[in-house]
Amino acid sequence: MNILILGSGGREHTIAWKLNQSQKLSKLFVAPGNAGTASIAKNIPIGVNDFEGIKNIILSEGINMVVVGPEDPLVNGVHDFFLSDDLLKNVPVIGPEKAAATLEGSKEFAKEFMFKHNIPTAKYESFTSNDLEKGYSFLETLDAPYVLKADGLAAGKGVLILNDLEEAKRELKAMLVDAKFGNASATVVIEEFLDGIELSCFVLTDGENYKILPTAKDYKRIGEGDTGLNTGGMGAISPVPFADDVLMDKIEQRIVKPTVNGLKKDNLPYKGFIFIGLIMVNNEPLVIEYNVRMGDPETEVVLPRIKNDLVEVFDAVANQTLDTIDLDIDERTAVTVMTVSGGYPEAYEKGKQITGHDDIDSSIVFHAGTQFKDSKVVTSGGRVIAITSYGDNFKEALKVSYQNITKLHFDRMNYRKDIGFDL
Ligand code: AMP
Ligand code: GLY
Repeated sequence: MNILILGSGGREHTIAWKLNQSQKLSKLFVAPGNAGTASIAKNIPIGVNDFEGIKNIILSEGINMVVVGPEDPLVNGVHDFFLSDDLLKNVPVIGPEKAAATLEGSKEFAKEFMFKHNIPTAKYESFTSNDLEKGYSFLETLDAPYVLKADGLAAGKGVLILNDLEEAKRELKAMLVDAKFGNASATVVIEEFLDGIELSCFVLTDGENYKILPTAKDYKRIGEGDTGLNTGGMGAISPVPFADDVLMDKIEQRIVKPTVNGLKKDNLPYKGFIFIGLIMVNNEPLVIEYNVRMGDPETEVVLPRIKNDLVEVFDAVANQTLDTIDLDIDERTAVTVMTVSGGYPEAYEKGKQITGHDDIDSSIVFHAGTQFKDSKVVTSGGRVIAITSYGDNFKEALKVSYQNITKLHFDRMNYRKDIGFDL
């Protein structure tokens, strides 16, 4: 089977690494990919939203399956594009159709879905610029801190958590009236603040059946002790030590099942990953958000713990036979530590030469923002390389990642030295 992966980050390198282990794989392509994927697949220099460009590659390379990494092409309807094209409609796409991808593309849609299907989540109301005053009144009924969410995709920046009521009102106006996040904040969801510890549950569904994948927890803030600005993720651990069987059963019964059944009932075709962001309040799981893709860097710890042949698993998703697959999960803990460019998540420089990555053998090196330039590997993004290790527990695994990071070099390399500090 020839497979094309869309995307260019650590998530996509990990998916490529895992697919590459399968006997069933013939040729692997990644568009656009990075320096890491180039060593195990053929990189194709086209963007993930260039659907016509993707079509040409599918046809010219005889590709039999497409795996979509990021949310953007899904929300833009890449799956629907395939289904509506006579030459592409038999090429399976791993990733939901546009209507279902709206679970990530619109926070308001996701909240309505959860309320409709009795899935536990924070209370909320949503507002547009026409009802700014109503928004102010709703804020007055809540206790601090105040949670404001831009309805649409805002590159992970659309959620504000504010301690002061007046500031919350100012920000609400900035979002609704002054288009702080452009069109994404034309509608704003205001929700009750949930105080608790977060974890992520990953589900793979074929629309009929589902499998719960290993749990993971990521570390989003740039600074140690979870301080400073939000990033895409600075590290992750799988499994989450406090996610025991009792909790996982609650999550499955109250959240995963109603989600998959709700998708079916609402006629939202879904073949792909569902990433459910959860927060534990008094030991009860509530949904904070749905993403219609895997997490990054969570993928870098979740996939290395799945022992199955991923081509077989994706094939079962495409054929709606996921019920015939038994997942075989590695008992060990996997951790990943993300190295990032100095300055990230604010302005940073690119094009810094990376060395030492080939000298690491007791961890897995997943490239994120890297590319080849003049036959050297250089930085090309904020998150640069993730170092994944296994261990009997997360502390042992982290020791290995941290030892190996000392071999890696690029100018102004930064990383968090306290992944797992709160566990
Ligand atoms: P989201 O993009 O919806 O996942 O929100 C980004 C982050 O904001 C989450 O990972 C949480 O840390 C935080 N967050 C979102 N909603 C809430 C809430 N209702 N209560 C507390 N924290 C929240
Ligand atoms: N690591 C968080 C995300 O992928 O959204």
